[in-house]
Amino acid sequence: MSSDHGYPRPPLPPLSAGRGLFVVFEGLDGAGTTSQSTLLANWLREHDRDVELTHEPSHGPTGVMLRSVLGRRMTMDVAALALAFAADRLDHLYNDRNGLVGRLASGSWVVCDRYVLSSLAYQASQGLDPDWLVSINQHAIQPDVTVFVDAAPSVCLARIGRRSSDDELFHGHAQLGQVQESYREILRRGMFVGGLITVDGDEPMDIVAKQVRAGLVSWIVQNEPALAATFGPGA
Ligand SMILES: Nc1ncnc2c1ncn2[C@@H]1O[C@H](COP(=O)(O)OP(=O)(O)OP(=O)(O)O)[C@@H](O)[C@H]1O
Ligand SMILES: [Mg+2]
Repeated sequence: MSSDHGYPRPPLPPLSAGRGLFVVFEGLDGAGTTSQSTLLANWLREHDRDVELTHEPSHGPTGVMLRSVLGRRMTMDVAALALAFAADRLDHLYNDRNGLVGRLASGSWVVCDRYVLSSLAYQASQGLDPDWLVSINQHAIQPDVTVFVDAAPSVCLARIGRRSSDDELFHGHAQLGQVQESYREILRRGMFVGGLITVDGDEPMDIVAKQVRAGLVSWIVQNEPALAATFGPGA
């Protein structure tokens, strides 16, 4: 194996060197992370950003297997499941074909629906040690910005009601409540968060989208003003 495949990988270049911004969306099932990541990616493209919209589990081989487990077509030991999420993440970040780190380095902005915090929140809610979950994700890069779509479990369940709660691994009210608690604890610790933007996921979709855009522009103006030039007052 050549040295550029060794771990730890070299750090990402700084934003000032022209790499893209890495934005991730987190929240409970049904909070609206898929809707909001899509809306943000479209809005950024309207502002001439080259945007890669992606999600975890990824489309890679481990991601395909993970979707079968999440959809209860296969079962897996909870610790093995956590390792599979971490493996899928490394492949998503570093694979030679379209790995996100390469895309970021070449200047694309990446908007990712779920990332490390999903692993920490969902797998901790299954009783796994949070420190172990952090350690198996140690080679994942830190996002620049995390958008947390903060929606109540009852709202999420109403939205995903068409899917039976027996069909997916984490869809009971009690499970979602535990995951929400895990998220709050993890956000307090601040690891793998970067800049945190919390939006009110109980609100209608267009209001949430506006909060996301305003939060991101405000973060950019404060932290990376050189990137702010083309956004204007439209947020
Ligand atoms: N703010 C909102 N108000 C009302 N409905 C919403 C809102 N956000 C999303 N929805 C609807 O709720 C459902 C779930 O939304 P979405 O798929 O974006 O959630 P998600 O967080 O990605 O869920 P999952 O984790 O299960 O993939 C969809 O039918 C979507 O149209
Ligand atoms: Mg989704």
